Amino acid sequence: MTTEAASASSVAAANPPVRRLADWPAAGLRDLAAEHGTPLYVVDLDRVRENADRLRRAFPDAEIGYAVKANAIESVLETIADTGLGAECAAAGEVVRALDAGFDRVRYTAVNPPARDLDRVVDLAADREIAITVGAEDTLDRLAERGWTGELFVRVNPGVGAGHHAKVRTGTDPKFGVPGERAAAVVSEAANRGFDVRGLHAHAGSGILDADDLDAHRALVARMGELTGEVVDRGIDLDTVIVGGGFGVPYRETESPLDLDSLAAATREALGSAEGRGVSGVTLGIEPGRYLVADAGVLVTRVNTVKPTPETTVAGVDCGMTDLLRPALYDAHHAIRSLAPDAAERETVSATVAGPVCESADALARDRELPAPARGDLLAVGNTGAYGYEMANTYNSRPRPAVVALDDGESRVCVRRETIDDLTRLEAER
Ligand code: LLP
Repeated sequence: MTTEAASASSVAAANPPVRRLADWPAAGLRDLAAEHGTPLYVVDLDRVRENADRLRRAFPDAEIGYAVKANAIESVLETIADTGLGAECAAAGEVVRALDAGFDRVRYTAVNPPARDLDRVVDLAADREIAITVGAEDTLDRLAERGWTGELFVRVNPGVGAGHHAKVRTGTDPKFGVPGERAAAVVSEAANRGFDVRGLHAHAGSGILDADDLDAHRALVARMGELTGEVVDRGIDLDTVIVGGGFGVPYRETESPLDLDSLAAATREALGSAEGRGVSGVTLGIEPGRYLVADAGVLVTRVNTVKPTPETTVAGVDCGMTDLLRPALYDAHHAIRSLAPDAAERETVSATVAGPVCESADALARDRELPAPARGDLLAVGNTGAYGYEMANTYNSRPRPAVVALDDGESRVCVRRETIDDLTRLEAER
């Protein structure tokens, strides 16, 4: 083995491309549940750092912005800011949180931006570097009206979609970005109006994992290369072309992780094929969210009811669609593992793992093979570091769970459990 190959394989051993649910220590999770109660999110900040490190190695020259929407908890943001990545924000609230966490490169992707969000971001941009990505021509007017003509990206609808579910494919939805054929004209207009135009932006969708998704990603990058060429042909220099996030993670234990190096090579190749049209000098930008945090998180829940029925064994748990919305919203699959100390000795049953919310959508899994559940067991739900706590809500007046961070061998509560009193705090007094 060459020295280089040996060091690459030792990096892979220390920093594997995926952390499976089986890799989490059951006893450690049981201890955390005993100490903090359930349902409980656990986020391992060391794994977040590993994910950032792998991304940086695969895309050494790229501008990487973490898509804050995947997980905006302060400890997570601070951890990612410390790795030197930038932040991609979907709302003024995310911009505020990213700045507070110490990110020094922050970009706001303005999708039908509410006036209140524009006001706040423009206000913050008065003394901080914030770039804004616009996806509609009239957003330029709205920014100019507020006296802002700073660093600007134009979001393009690439006409190419990808992702794990129709509800997260943005690249073909007219809601997102200016039509491709308008891109060069909008960039020219923005430049003429005095905006500091930095580049183009597009995002195909979320959950790029299989060969079809990779083909879509390649097509999107090639399209962005062409459009960059059109802009450069108009005599306008662009310094960055952002090709979105959406890098997938294997939610099913049988799925393989994304091969980041191949993805990076395919991205460079697709962008490179547009060279000669003026693209060669531009920096590649990516903005992954899920990839950085998904496998750094698990959700621990307790079985409170076991009900044998003719169709299935229903394992009723204390976490519902309010705590983890993805299965109800996207039929998303999350691995589930029994943390019972004797799980390996139990017979396997086909179970429905259902939450306490009064809706039939409220099931974490159906027909799932699990060690026969018993009342009081703990179950761990995998890959919940992305869009887990972040999409939690208080429907049924259910307070949101606590979040514990693991950091260099220590654990600490980074978000306390919400209480019923918290839920009524905003109601006006009569
Ligand atoms: N950039 C833009 C412009 C986006 O809209 C998104 C996600 C990302 C980056 C990051 O995508 P990621 O790398 O995390 O896949 N709640 C859904 C995902 C919705 C994502 C929306 N936009 C889920 O739980 O799968």
